[in-house]
Amino acid sequence: MSDRLFIFDTTLRDGEQVPGCQLNTVEKIEVAKALEELGVDVIEAGFPISSPGDFNSVVEISKAVTWPTICALTRAVENDIRVAADALQYAKHKRIHTGIGTSDYHIKYKFNSNREDILERAIACVKYAKRFVEDVQFYAEDAGRTDNEYLARVVEAVIKAGATVVNIPDTTGYCLPSQFGEKIQYLMEHVKGIHNVTIATHCHNDLGMATANTMSGVMHGARQAEVTINGIGERAGNTSLEEVAMICRSHKELGIDTNLNTTKLYGISRMVSSLMNMPVQPNKAIVGRNAFAHSSGIHQDGVLKNRESYEIIDPKDVGVDENSIVLTARSGRAALKHRLHVLGIELDKEALDKAYEGFLQLADKKKEINDDDVLLLAGEHRKAS
Ligand code: KIV
Ligand code: ZN
Repeated sequence: MSDRLFIFDTTLRDGEQVPGCQLNTVEKIEVAKALEELGVDVIEAGFPISSPGDFNSVVEISKAVTWPTICALTRAVENDIRVAADALQYAKHKRIHTGIGTSDYHIKYKFNSNREDILERAIACVKYAKRFVEDVQFYAEDAGRTDNEYLARVVEAVIKAGATVVNIPDTTGYCLPSQFGEKIQYLMEHVKGIHNVTIATHCHNDLGMATANTMSGVMHGARQAEVTINGIGERAGNTSLEEVAMICRSHKELGIDTNLNTTKLYGISRMVSSLMNMPVQPNKAIVGRNAFAHSSGIHQDGVLKNRESYEIIDPKDVGVDENSIVLTARSGRAALKHRLHVLGIELDKEALDKAYEGFLQLADKKKEINDDDVLLLAGEHRKAS
């Protein structure tokens, strides 16, 4: 029996906060509908108090999307919570996501306060949100750098106040995977009532460990992963949805299932990239242009004999048609022969050898050999043989 991991997508909130990534309401609805088709469980649609545009987007997404829960972010401030509740009025399934910073950095520098006061404010915001909705998620901002004992007190108190989901963000992307996993485990072992709620991870990628930290959290008991498409988000970004999805799918021994239709991953990645004008790095895991491209001769030969020699994911599982054998100066005869075959051309051994010689000369001058080049080479050597 597998355990279900709930996927909470914050592309339209944490992702959209990135400078230059702002979307209008129509574009946000387009993304929200694609997220619904992908099968995400929760869409964080915005931070309604932050602007009339964000408020309106939460309203319109709530009307346009019916299957996932629609979530709105607030600070631990009553007016934020009232406005969020108002923005969510049309949502079939609604959640308020409220919270406060719990690390000493936040308590001292951001709030000029103390631990006891922050604990009271955490309890109060959850109780206040409960007046408007049943489903209240609490976030302990900067939980990654929060002392575990104090964090456990906060988590226990907000559960008692009625939180249904408790989010443990590594806001600054500081934790090592082992530390983050231990933090979740500590909470699972020390907080009364924790098994009646869902614990969420929300990891940032400042040290390139967001996905590793998320998976470590999941392996220690978290059952909601907060993610974004292409890993976009504040600074170095958030955990990327596609990576978590494919780790769960590839490592069945974890016993973790999501509701995602992974064949939609590539399409939604491209949609978000083009709407937000945010290119996907070519070597990005799962959805990068080169994620299934093989360019060295040894790899190409191996893949042509059996794809699994160098591929752990079938490209079709993420919505990419086929792996690509990129023809460059490092490609071997097998790759050229394969490309010719795909183009409907079979050469005898002598003609292939000659075409390959011509190919290498051309490849030394050009970065990539395209199909027109291959057809030209084949034509010359078919005639010559
Ligand atoms: O990174 C963070 O801590 C957040 C919270 C608001 C959930 O985005
Ligand atoms: Zn965040």
